[in-house]
Amino acid sequence: MTQTPLTEMTAWKALESHAAQMQTKHLREMFSSDPQRGERMTAEACGLFMDYSKHRIDDETLRLFQALAAESGLEDRRAAMFRGDKINVTENRAVLHTALRAPREAVIEVDGHNVVPDVHAVLDKMAAFAESIRSGAWTGYTGKPIRNVINIGIGGSDLGPVMAYEALRHYSQRELTMRFVSNVDGSDFAEAVHDLDPEETLFIVSSKTFTTLETMTNAHSARVWALGKLKHRDAVAKHFVAVSTNAGEVAKFGIDTANMFGFWDWVGGRYSMDAAIGLSTMIAIGAENFRRMLSGFHAMDEHFRTAPLQQNLPFLMGMLTVWYTSFFGAETVAVLPYDNYLKRFPAYLQQLTMESNGKHVTLDGRRVNYQTCPIFWGEPGTNGQHSFYQLIHQGTRLIPCDFIGFAHSLNPLGNHHDLLMSNVFAQAEALAFGKTAEQVKAEGTADWLVPHRTFEGNRPSSVILAEKMTPEILGQLVALYEHSVFVQGVVWQIDSFDQWGVELGKVLAVRIIPELESAVEPTLKHDSSTNALIRRYRRMRRNQA
Ligand code: F6P
Repeated sequence: MTQTPLTEMTAWKALESHAAQMQTKHLREMFSSDPQRGERMTAEACGLFMDYSKHRIDDETLRLFQALAAESGLEDRRAAMFRGDKINVTENRAVLHTALRAPREAVIEVDGHNVVPDVHAVLDKMAAFAESIRSGAWTGYTGKPIRNVINIGIGGSDLGPVMAYEALRHYSQRELTMRFVSNVDGSDFAEAVHDLDPEETLFIVSSKTFTTLETMTNAHSARVWALGKLKHRDAVAKHFVAVSTNAGEVAKFGIDTANMFGFWDWVGGRYSMDAAIGLSTMIAIGAENFRRMLSGFHAMDEHFRTAPLQQNLPFLMGMLTVWYTSFFGAETVAVLPYDNYLKRFPAYLQQLTMESNGKHVTLDGRRVNYQTCPIFWGEPGTNGQHSFYQLIHQGTRLIPCDFIGFAHSLNPLGNHHDLLMSNVFAQAEALAFGKTAEQVKAEGTADWLVPHRTFEGNRPSSVILAEKMTPEILGQLVALYEHSVFVQGVVWQIDSFDQWGVELGKVLAVRIIPELESAVEPTLKHDSSTNALIRRYRRMRRNQA
């Protein structure tokens, strides 16, 4: 696929010179010259409201965003994704996470086959299973009901489930203990099971490939742990289920494929929390709430697919990320949810954004000559305020922020919620407008202290508001970021759906494992640093023994 190089596009060049002008403008001037700006530069869709007025943009910027989208073929690429074209070119795969939340009557074809009935068949099977766990009808090998559910997975087979469980905990069946094991560090598994009874514990082994080292190592340890008490191999069928695309490996592990929940190669790992990978979520919150979450995803899909670009939330969010990354030298984006239930949302977004767009080669194999994906990070407010916000306000870096807040708390408690939300509005205001030296002086501050107490402002942020944290809103929020990532990838001309960058480390680790475990001193053929580290580690291991 050959495209006009991004930096040669007319709209890109226009944005470059426009950015040079915008860099000299302050949000203070932009607001004072346009009293309607705070009302005008907003967009709303299916219950999510976004104020993007505190960004360093004007109407011309928005016009150029659209021009760049047109020149990049964004709308065609979007149609191709929704249609099931193989837009993941390096893996020759369709990218159809949107089919996972399509209504039953929809028709979406991959290689001439309508996948929607398959999606709903799996959802129905998940629902029946989830209900049997929640009701106690499914019993363990010794006849006890399941009280503990442990999802074993990593990356997209973990981050989505953990995030969604935490986000929707309010809606969860509290009698069930939900835990998540991802790290190959044995401490993760040991801590997850230390107070649990194998007779009451169900493991969901979640792995698209069913070959991932971390997950398979944890799954084997789980089987040893469970059979340590349950004694009989037949117990595996009652205490292990699998979520995978690889029936062969699932059967080899000893899990009855009747207890396997499938998905498809057109679902990327980091886009799979609403596929069967969400089984733990469904067990926790029930099938009905899970379907509510899917309806939220679908509503945002439809918004992204059909809304005009000037009101299109994922488009605006995606282009703002391109704007700061490519034209303002911003290296990171902070995602700051003012809702404790979203505490794992930034971690979830890290894989979604950075595994998708952390690429330096275009679809046609050229090295890019512009920056691509920024680093996404964040913590829930207000905790972050007492940690790293100092740097966002007065540091030397430009860090665009996404504030996410809700009108209603799920746990109303005195005036906590108003205090929480006052901080969202205050932080966005302080970042944008700062505090001038004159204002600081006028407060009687000693001259020498004035520079320290001055806030230059002009630091951009979005404020995203919704009524309250519901399954629908979670689906919308995740889909918003998914499609924002898509917009960025299209503009940067990269394949947002492969992840070759994770391969090399995996291959090298497999080579090193026997060198660490070998009883005889191995002949090492790495570089001098790696060789020395391996030798030192082996010595340290011997000493400890
Ligand atoms: O980190 C690489 C990766 O392939 C992710 O894309 C994926 O989510 C994760 O590993 C887990 O893979 P699997 O579900 O196949 O175990």
